[in-house]
Amino acid sequence: MLKALLDIGFLIASVGLIFGLKRQSDPATARSGNMLAAYSMIAGIIMALVYPLDVEGSLDPVGFGYILVSLAIGTFIGIRSANKVEMTGMPQLVSLFNGLGGLSAVLVGYVELLNLNKDAESYYSQAGSTIFALVVGAIAFSGSLLAYLKLDGKLKDSQVAVKGHQYINYALLAITLVMIAVVVMSGANNVMVSILLVISLIYGWSFVAPIGGADMPVVISLLNSFTGLTAAAAGLIYGNQFMLLGGILVGASGTILTVLMCNAMNRSLWNVIAGNFAGSGSSAAAGGPQGSVREASAADTGVMMYYAQKVVIVPGYGLAVAQAQQYVKQIYQILSDNDVKVVFGIHPVAGRMPGHMNVLLAEVDIPYDALLDLEEANEELATSDVALIIGANDVVNPSAVEDQGSSIYGMPVLEVWKSKNVVVMKRSMASGYAGIENPLFFKPNTQMLFGDAKKTLADLVSELKNL
Ligand code: TAP
Repeated sequence: MLKALLDIGFLIASVGLIFGLKRQSDPATARSGNMLAAYSMIAGIIMALVYPLDVEGSLDPVGFGYILVSLAIGTFIGIRSANKVEMTGMPQLVSLFNGLGGLSAVLVGYVELLNLNKDAESYYSQAGSTIFALVVGAIAFSGSLLAYLKLDGKLKDSQVAVKGHQYINYALLAITLVMIAVVVMSGANNVMVSILLVISLIYGWSFVAPIGGADMPVVISLLNSFTGLTAAAAGLIYGNQFMLLGGILVGASGTILTVLMCNAMNRSLWNVIAGNFAGSGSSAAAGGPQGSVREASAADTGVMMYYAQKVVIVPGYGLAVAQAQQYVKQIYQILSDNDVKVVFGIHPVAGRMPGHMNVLLAEVDIPYDALLDLEEANEELATSDVALIIGANDVVNPSAVEDQGSSIYGMPVLEVWKSKNVVVMKRSMASGYAGIENPLFFKPNTQMLFGDAKKTLADLVSELKNL
C-alpha cells in the first residue's frame, strides 16, 4: 500500500518537475515554474526519506537523525547564501552549489562501489553507473570549485594554467580511463577506488584551469549538466525514477544552455574547452583610438529621447554593476507617458549569466513584452531614433559584423549603429569582457555619456522630469 502511494507520489512530483521547467522558459511564468519545481523536489525528498518504511518496515533512528541534521544545516546555509548573494555574484553561487551536487554523487558512488559484488550477474551495469557517479561527480566538484575561485577573483587564469595545458588534460583523461578499467576488472577495493577518486579530482581541476574567465559561465553550465547526469546515475543505482528523471532534466537543460551560449558567442564548445578565449579580460582597450569621440551631456540625451518616436535601450553588464535598474524603470515610464515607444534589446550573453538582463529588468517590473530578443531588437533598431546603451560593450560591437580579423567576428550582436542616434553610457573608453576595442564609440552617429551608470541615469531622469 505504502509502495503504491509512494510510486504515485513520485510520478506526480516528476510531472511537477517537467511542468516547472516548462514554465521557466517564459519570463511571465518563470517564477511560478521555479516554485513548482522546488515544491516537487521537496516532495521527492520527503518521499525518499520515508521510502525505507516500505522496504524495511521501520526507520533506523540514528541514520534518520543524521539525515535530518544534515538537511537542516544544508537548508539553512542554502537559504542564507541565496538571500545574501548579489545578482552579480550569482554565477559563483551556482558554481559552488553545483560543486556540492558533484560531491554528493562522489559519496554515493564511493559507498556503492565498495558494496558491489564482482560475481553478481548485474556487476558490470552496476559498476558502470556507480563509477560514472564517482568520476563525473568528482570532475564536477573540483572543476566547479576552481570555477568559483576564478570567478570570485581568488585565483587568476595564469596561476593555474600552463602553456599547452590541453596536453596535460589529454594525459589525465587517459590515466582516468585506464584507472576505470582497472577498477572494473579487479573489483573495487578501498585503495583502487581512492586512487580513481584522486585522479578524477585532479582531472576536474585541470579541465577548468586553461579556460578563460569570460568563458566561465559556459563551463559552469557544462559542469551543471555533468552533475545532473551523476544524479541520473544515482537514480539508476537506487532504482529511483524520480531521481533519474530529475538528473536527466538537469543534464539535458545544462547541455542545451551550454550550446546556446556557445552559439551566442559564435564559438564551438571545443574552442571554449581548449581555452582559446581571445580576449585578455583586461580593462584597457586594445590598440589606439580610431578617431574622435563625441561626448554627450545628460541634458542633450534627455531632449533627444523625450522628442523621439522610438527608443531602444540596450542594457549590459555595467547596468548590473551599477544597480541602477530603478532609474531605467523611471525613464521607461516617463518616455512611455510621453507616447515614445520604448523597447529593450536583450542580448543572450549580455551580463555575466544567462538571463541576467531579464532578471535585472524584471526586478523593477518592466513589462515582459517590452523585452525583445536579438532578432526582434535588430528590426526595431533599424528604424529607431535613439539607441541608449547602458553599460554594454561587447554585445554592441560592430567588429562582429564588419571586421573579419576580430576575435568576435561572426558573433551575433545588437546592431545599435543602425539607429539614427546612439548614446553609450559607461565610465571610460575601457573595453568589455572580451578585451577588444569597440569601433562603435567612434561612429559619427555615436555620443558617449561618461560616468557611473547610477549617477548618469539619475541625472537623465531629472532632466527628463524637467521637460
Ligand atoms: P561587457 O562587454 O563586459 O561591457 C560592460 C561595460 O560596462 C564595460 O565596458 C564597462 O565600461 C561598463 N561598466 C562597468 N561598470 C559600469 C558602471 N558602474 N557604470 C557604467 N558602465 C559600467 O558587457 P556586455 O556588453 O554585457 O557583454 C557581456 C560579455 O560577457 C560578453 O563578452 C559575453 O561574451 C561575456 N559572457 C557572457 C555570458 C553570459 S551567459 N551573459 C557568458 C559568457 C561570456 P567602463 O569600465 O568604461 O565603465
